[in-house]
Amino acid sequence: MTIPEPETGGVRVDASDAQTFVTSLLVAHGLSTENAETVARGLVQADLRGVESHGINRIPSYLARVRNGVLDPKAEPTLAQITPVVAQVDGHNGFGFLAAARGIDAAVEMARTFGIGMVSIKHSNHFGMSAWIVRRATDAGMMSLVFTNSSPALPVWGGKSQLMGVSPIACGAPGGHDSKPFILDMAPSIAARGKIYKALRRGEKIPTDWALDSEGKPTDQPAEALKGVMLPMGGPKGSALAIMMDVFSGVLSGSAFAGGVTGPYDMSKPGDVGHFLVAVKPDLFMSLDEFRERMDVLYQRVVGSDKMHGVERIYFPGEIEHLTEEQRLKDGIQYVQDEIDALNAEAERVNVAKIRTM
Ligand SMILES: NC(=O)c1ccc[n+]([C@@H]2O[C@H](COP(=O)([O-])OP(=O)(O)OC[C@H]3O[C@@H](n4cnc5c(N)ncnc54)[C@H](O)[C@@H]3O)[C@@H](O)[C@H]2O)c1
Repeated sequence: MTIPEPETGGVRVDASDAQTFVTSLLVAHGLSTENAETVARGLVQADLRGVESHGINRIPSYLARVRNGVLDPKAEPTLAQITPVVAQVDGHNGFGFLAAARGIDAAVEMARTFGIGMVSIKHSNHFGMSAWIVRRATDAGMMSLVFTNSSPALPVWGGKSQLMGVSPIACGAPGGHDSKPFILDMAPSIAARGKIYKALRRGEKIPTDWALDSEGKPTDQPAEALKGVMLPMGGPKGSALAIMMDVFSGVLSGSAFAGGVTGPYDMSKPGDVGHFLVAVKPDLFMSLDEFRERMDVLYQRVVGSDKMHGVERIYFPGEIEHLTEEQRLKDGIQYVQDEIDALNAEAERVNVAKIRTM
């Protein structure tokens, strides 16, 4: 990932207008205002952070799932306390964003009292970009692990057909006194599959090392790549990380696993996605002040490393996204006209005002 160049062209939307628009669309599809705001915040935050593959352009597919009756817009997640530090959330086939918000808030509360909180989530759906959940924990002063499983897209190492999800592994820690939080959020594939959908929407080619077509050949065409398989990062290691996400999120939770999760673009049945969330209090073994000082030292040593040839600046995980967010909060988020048209077509269906552009 690189910081986007100052953006020109396209259609710009202020983040607050994107939030208002998505909230109205979701309310028109049966969500409560509060729940609609939670989903919208997760999606807009992805666009702000430069993760447009998981931003508001996901809305048409989510709404199609609602209209097809495979995602329940009115479902409220429920929570069962298993031990003082362990809870289980049932998403009841509602938006994954709501189950994840309920789960991470519970994990944070347990960690405040007991130092750690673990939440397993079942019967959920796609929750978008994992980093918004990590951010919810770092904003509350907590470290976190955020795992999910997802629909088949990736072969296991040595296999040739889709079995594991391109399931992101994410974690975070509050920053130091003078440094931003550590936020790692990465798919175990060379690139997230959402980036291929984004290239398809935007009529762009993709790098040939991202995916194979249905005949097992490298391709730069997003449509062909979507018929084939994503390639794991680091060979067997990426494949093993995808299996790890399924062990913790799928096998453990009671949700679908081993290739059984339904994808967000498949309108045939509920997603049955599982998630696994952990919150950890950072000042368990020392004062918060000392923890923050140590994060500052780590940050400075990382970004101050000797640079390899051709590298101008070294970034901390999550820092590029943070800088992108600062820029986009000021300048707006840039979309292509086709994306805006698709969103406005959704608005027209339910008599909601079109998205306001800058
Ligand atoms: N919900 C789902 O099922 C699902 C599935 C797949 C992906 N996703 C989301 O897709 C998104 C994209 O994933 P990705 O793997 O393509 O991300 P990515 O490759 O853009 O970034 C991965 C990580 O590397 C860090 N990074 C990237 N470039 C860097 C640099 N130059 N210097 C220092 N750090 C750098 C980023 O901060 C980030 O933490 C994630 O937000 C993920 O949650 C979600």
